[in-house]
Amino acid sequence: AAAAAPALAQAPFPSRPVSMVIPFAAGGPTDTVGRLIAQVMSADLGQPVVVENVGGAGGTLGAQRVAGARPDGHTILLHHIGMATIPTLYRRLAYDPINGFETIGLVTEVPMTLVARRNIEATNLSELVALIRRRGEALNYANAGIGAASHLCGLLFMQAVNTRMTTVSYRGTGPAMNDLVAGTVDLMCDQTTNTTEHIRAGTIRAFAVTTSERVPSLADIPTATEGGLPGFEVSVWHGLYAPRGTPAPVIARLNQALLKALQDSGIAQRFADLGTAPVAPARATPQIHREFWQADIAKWRPLIQAAGQFAD
Ligand code: MLT
Repeated sequence: AAAAAPALAQAPFPSRPVSMVIPFAAGGPTDTVGRLIAQVMSADLGQPVVVENVGGAGGTLGAQRVAGARPDGHTILLHHIGMATIPTLYRRLAYDPINGFETIGLVTEVPMTLVARRNIEATNLSELVALIRRRGEALNYANAGIGAASHLCGLLFMQAVNTRMTTVSYRGTGPAMNDLVAGTVDLMCDQTTNTTEHIRAGTIRAFAVTTSERVPSLADIPTATEGGLPGFEVSVWHGLYAPRGTPAPVIARLNQALLKALQDSGIAQRFADLGTAPVAPARATPQIHREFWQADIAKWRPLIQAAGQFAD
């Protein structure tokens, strides 16, 4: 029978360290999630999962690296909502942003926060909106490039207040946060995984969370709807990917290691501190991840087209 054929070609997986590409700079929100899950995945896989930051071009350079890697499971990608917006935002890419990947599983969903340098001349969202309308392009809005969550949030925000600011792009919101704390940029919309500790320390000022409900770990920050921008909502989701053609048993093994991380109590605690939570294990299947991703591409396409800001 076919089942008796020896699997000569299939080396045991993993046979060497696994590279987890983070498509943004070290010290930022994607990096934070990646380093946490990589630790538990390493223990489960019996090989180190090594985080590799490949930032730049709104997360497309890291995605390109993984799409072009050998499909053997030793190179994987942790990416976010950009996987759903990049296919619409970019007319030309050196990789296939939809068919270039296998899905391994969803990881987490993260609220965003509208934040500013701590000495900004506004104390609540309506004052901030008034300031933006008055000063417009004299204000600098930091983001992590076209395709970043901070880009998407800024696009929706500038559309909601009907005023443009000057955009300053970074390789990730980790380095952007340093400039916001230093006060050399004015505003940013960034994930709670990167902003929570700065908000608590008072090194930046928060004006709103972008979810329909308040975030328990930042309970005194109003939602954008409460602050006067009804319906201004965006949540960042993360998923784990492998290059297209990675064998199904390897994907299954990676998924099993991901599930270990999602069920780890230390990770759940750290995620909760940072305003997020691991996805429920039942939702962390490759199939549900793929369906969610494809639905999100369809959800964002008309909104991005209406906002009309594309990469070349
Ligand atoms: C990062 O890790 O730097 C972020 O996820 C950037 C972003 O998408 O805004």
